[in-house]
Amino acid sequence: MPTITEIADLKRIYKRRVPKMFYDYCESGSWTEQTFSENSSDFDQIRLRQRVAVDMTNRTTKGQMIGRDVAMPVALAPVGMTGMQHADGEILAAKAAEKFGVPFTLSTMSICSIEDIAEHTSAPFWFQLYVMRDAQFIDNLLGRAKDAGCDAMVLTLDLQLLGQRHKDIKNGLSAPPKLTPMVIADLATKWGWGLKMLQTKRRTFRNIVGHAQSVDDISQLHSWTAQQFDPRLNWDTVKEYRKKWDRKMILKGILDVEDARKALDVGADAIIVSNHGGRQLDGALSSIKMLGPILDAVGDKIEVHMDGGIRSGQDVLKALAMGAKSTYIGRAFIYGLGAMGEQGVSEALRVIHKELDTTMALCGERDIANLGRHNLLIPKGFEGEWA
Ligand code: GLV
Repeated sequence: MPTITEIADLKRIYKRRVPKMFYDYCESGSWTEQTFSENSSDFDQIRLRQRVAVDMTNRTTKGQMIGRDVAMPVALAPVGMTGMQHADGEILAAKAAEKFGVPFTLSTMSICSIEDIAEHTSAPFWFQLYVMRDAQFIDNLLGRAKDAGCDAMVLTLDLQLLGQRHKDIKNGLSAPPKLTPMVIADLATKWGWGLKMLQTKRRTFRNIVGHAQSVDDISQLHSWTAQQFDPRLNWDTVKEYRKKWDRKMILKGILDVEDARKALDVGADAIIVSNHGGRQLDGALSSIKMLGPILDAVGDKIEVHMDGGIRSGQDVLKALAMGAKSTYIGRAFIYGLGAMGEQGVSEALRVIHKELDTTMALCGERDIANLGRHNLLIPKGFEGEWA
């Protein structure tokens, strides 16, 4: 195995091993990709305060997310089509998360189904829901998530319509990929990926196919998805979902102070400050820039999590020190998964944990719970002054 010291090592291997279509799907933002790239680059503007001659023994990164003990406050974010990055991808990522002691979140648009994950893991996982028009399908989906022991629902609020990602259109993204001459030429260099794919039966959207009415074959799925995401979603709908689901609920995709205040009325257990990895509203501010104002507005009333742009333990530390209770990684674990399956996800978690732990120590802290803005040097006007 090559020596992995940073997430970028996993990304390099990932790029070599996974078909271009799925690499591009992961590594894209919408339109100009400004928000996608600033999600990461804005972390660089925040600097850390070095403190010395502090006893650094007995450190801990343990914390809690919505009442659940975690080895570090870094959950795996829901990522669509994870099972196309590596055969049985969602199962492998969920296993790695379970072994590490962090939550795994399954996307509605996953390849492996809710039942597949339940069958292969024992820790409860979280289920991410897109609000769709087919109410019966949604009720059925939530029932399946409950039966599978999911103890939290992550309701995504920022994807009623899909932000355009140019490469997905140009590549003809589909699951499984359609075998055009371009795809065949690409797959010829990705035979390791292909061999594993041939050995699994999980090659299409298994939460949906066979469960939603009139979707029993993949060729109908794309039109169904476009038709099914519900553009009418509003705060009343969100409250209805709160009533429907009697377990923990997390609202994902809050990027504005006013929306954060509205989210308080829902009675959710947490919000995730997120712009969907820069894949939806291009031109929006990065998650790390919006985190501070949202925390100032609602941070003492609800648990605030964040995602977007995290590629290192230093990034995690910055978000936590800013005041987020927890963070999520999406692309960072997908790189690991595509590079080397379950072991790669474990490596991604190991790398981030080590960076977080050592950086915390060099900041003069021994307990992650004690991180705060006193550890950060935040440039004046970091969020910008906008008229
Ligand atoms: C779906 O969640 C996507 O961002 O592709």
